[in-house]
Amino acid sequence: MRADVRSVRVGLLGAGNVVESIHLPVLASLDGVSVAWVCDTDTARARALASTYSLPRAFGSLDDCPDVDVVLVAIPVGARRGALETILARGWHAFCEKPFAPTLEDHEWIVAEARRRKVRLGIGLVRRHYASVKTARELVDAGVLGPLEVILGGEGARVRHTGRGGDWYQANAHASGGGVLFEAGAHLVDQIFTIARVDDYRIDRCSQRVLKGIEFETSVRGSVIVDGGRPVPLGMVVSQVSDVYGGIVMRCANGELRLGATASGATEIYGRHGRITGRLGGSASEGAAFNAAVRAEWREFVDSCARSVEFSDWDTGLRTTAFIEACYRFNGARAERVSGVGS
Ligand SMILES: NC(=O)c1ccc[n+]([C@@H]2O[C@H](COP(=O)([O-])OP(=O)(O)OC[C@H]3O[C@@H](n4cnc5c(N)ncnc54)[C@H](O)[C@@H]3O)[C@@H](O)[C@H]2O)c1
Repeated sequence: MRADVRSVRVGLLGAGNVVESIHLPVLASLDGVSVAWVCDTDTARARALASTYSLPRAFGSLDDCPDVDVVLVAIPVGARRGALETILARGWHAFCEKPFAPTLEDHEWIVAEARRRKVRLGIGLVRRHYASVKTARELVDAGVLGPLEVILGGEGARVRHTGRGGDWYQANAHASGGGVLFEAGAHLVDQIFTIARVDDYRIDRCSQRVLKGIEFETSVRGSVIVDGGRPVPLGMVVSQVSDVYGGIVMRCANGELRLGATASGATEIYGRHGRITGRLGGSASEGAAFNAAVRAEWREFVDSCARSVEFSDWDTGLRTTAFIEACYRFNGARAERVSGVGS
């Protein structure tokens, strides 16, 4: 079944928080799109969501779901492979919430299977669609501040309680992917890779802080390869145990760009003297800016499904998955236990 942009039928796999709070409000009002069903192994949750949003049907198993053009895959990353086998075999395009896959091997398998079945894949790394990221990418592309020289990225603050109790995010590293690098870090890595059009990377140092198998902090030093072979030093920290600088700095020969993790934030331009010289974009309402980014990611995916089944590594965030896995692998025996975080 191929997507027709005039009437694209979307199925929702997962009736959880991300579907209810982020995707459904956008899909319910996206031109040329209708939500056909929601499917969740927790059938009561699927039925409740269907009833709240007047969705036509709710199911407990994908095997019972009628054909659609596109499926939003929004179940825990560790549960996706089996579901994607069914989705791709049925010829449905799949838009996967981030993180895309728990391992690089899984990611590559999903990509190969989608190409074999001639369906398109997309990834919900929504920050790619933030105005600040698009602006920074254009400025770097245009070489406005000269060549990139250093990239720094950080995100996180000390938390004493996760507020998640024993749910799968906290209690099951297999289901969740493994920690803060997988969750928040996927966005930060992807923002950096998107803005700088990173071709490859090298990790020189990586340390992680781990509690009960879940990682609460990752610090990486290395470089990214841009412009077809030029290495640019990279430093990145994501943390839930320390307060760290929040944002991305793209230091270039003649100044630097700075942007934050919010949808409404501006792209700031700093001169070589370290003083701010310009601010591009930025808006008052975070909610409206975030909603616009989710709308943009859906519009782009639905429209691209109508055009072609071809997709690139960037379309699924393959390099982001590879980088994250390389950090966890690099870390190996270097993980340090952390204390003082409650559930
Ligand atoms: N919540 C967010 O803001 C957010 C943001 C970005 C990405 N994500 C990602 O989206 C995914 C879902 O997150 P969430 O917060 O909505 O989780 P959630 O726990 O609220 O919902 C997940 C749902 O998936 C269902 N489920 C699990 N395995 C299933 C299977 N095999 N078949 C059908 N249903 C299955 C569960 O019953 C549950 O209802 C995760 O991978 C998460 O990392 C979440």
